[in-house]
Amino acid sequence: MKATVIVGSQWGDEGKGKIVDYLSEEYDIVVRYQGGANAGHTVEFDKSKFILHLIPSGILRANCVCVIGNGVVLDPIALLDEIAFLESQGVKVAGRLFISLNTHLIMPYHKAMDAKQESGKLKIGSTGRGIGPCYTDKASRRGIRLQDLFDKNVLINKISLSLEEKRASLENIEGLNLSVDKIAEEYFGYGIMLRKYSTDTAMMLNKELQKSSRILLEGAQGAALDVDFGTYPFVTSSNTISGGACTGTGLPPTSIGKIIGIVKAYTTRVGEGPFPTELNDSVGEDLRTAGAEFGATTGRARRCGWYDSNLIRYSSMINGFKTAVLTKLDVLGIFDEISICTGYKLKGKKISYFPTSPDELNNLKPVYKTVPGWKGIDISACRSFDDLPENTQLYVNTLEKVSKIKFSIISVGPKREETILR
Ligand code: GDP
Ligand code: IMO
Ligand code: MG
Repeated sequence: MKATVIVGSQWGDEGKGKIVDYLSEEYDIVVRYQGGANAGHTVEFDKSKFILHLIPSGILRANCVCVIGNGVVLDPIALLDEIAFLESQGVKVAGRLFISLNTHLIMPYHKAMDAKQESGKLKIGSTGRGIGPCYTDKASRRGIRLQDLFDKNVLINKISLSLEEKRASLENIEGLNLSVDKIAEEYFGYGIMLRKYSTDTAMMLNKELQKSSRILLEGAQGAALDVDFGTYPFVTSSNTISGGACTGTGLPPTSIGKIIGIVKAYTTRVGEGPFPTELNDSVGEDLRTAGAEFGATTGRARRCGWYDSNLIRYSSMINGFKTAVLTKLDVLGIFDEISICTGYKLKGKKISYFPTSPDELNNLKPVYKTVPGWKGIDISACRSFDDLPENTQLYVNTLEKVSKIKFSIISVGPKREETILR
């Protein structure tokens, strides 16, 4: 049985949490493979609403085991909070969560460095969770890994080494403790609490695959935030695309079967950076209100704009999906007319690709096709494609045509059951 990968196809917040929860009824194991507590994945069912940052959304299905893979950067404080919250809500975590011994840990100084970078000349609008500095330490071989927490001397040595080059620039930050012994003491304590979850997850997942366990890999962020393929430098620091699912878990590319893109019926972005179809007017504000587009992690207002087919075709190409899930279609029921970006014009020439050069991104003009809306009709009770109003069907069919993909699932509300299978 091959594994399935779920990826965000835009700038994150496409509704991955809802769809992973929806699909995980049919899976045995759900795995996070990159990112960290910068993610905020919302799951709603019955009268409950959960926002998960580190633990895979499959934790809310009693049948699922959850894994945090080596590609994730783990904030032990955020993780322990999340575990405590879930347990307080009656969700059993112990015995169902496994964390790679190779995950890199977010340290207090990573968060301070993130904040410092954000107050400098290049402001990304990061989530402030220490993600960039932690991945930087990983790549420069100064990182602290989960496995380092279990031996106090090893931990002291590693923290001391890692802090050596940073100390001078961090010395004057208020409230930041740079005592190696104190940090080691604190993190050694987290190690005691996290030991029971820690294991060789690459080995575990490959064994499970051989036993035909059904594995769902839950991406965080979205393709346009990928460190290699996104709108660099306004990106996150990991490979958010489907390729990251292998490097972030130890599952080989040959073990991947389906790749499913999650596509919002319009576009949003949090933080700085280019956004070709952004609506800086009352239409954008109406979208934000109707879609409750406020960050699940930071509460920041999300920038909103029309659907961008250049971005989705690019995303489909680099992720390798032809089948996708369309989310938040219900939100568009406030408009008389809806615009779809079918291409860009750059220096008077039509282009059908998504450029990654800042110069091109900042100078292009979206070309729109406008279709009639279904204003005032609540589609959240629709459970089949045929139940949808004619104009809604036309909108979906147009998106499929211009994006060259098929939507096999359509989400018409935040709750599990507000979903159409085609
Ligand atoms: P993620 O990061 O991709 O998991 O997405 P977020 O949870 O950050 O943001 C998606 C938001 O939209 C959450 O509040 C979801 O509950 C909500 N949501 C998901 N699907 C739908 C949908 O089809 N319609 C509506 N109205 N809300 C949805
Ligand atoms: P989910 O998984 C939307 C954005 C931040 C910022 C940039 C870099 O919920 O879709 P970082 O803290 O990662 O260094 O910030 O990436 N960003 C997200 N935007 N959804 C997310 O996650 C995001 N995670 C990071 O806003 O622009
Ligand atoms: Mg989110």
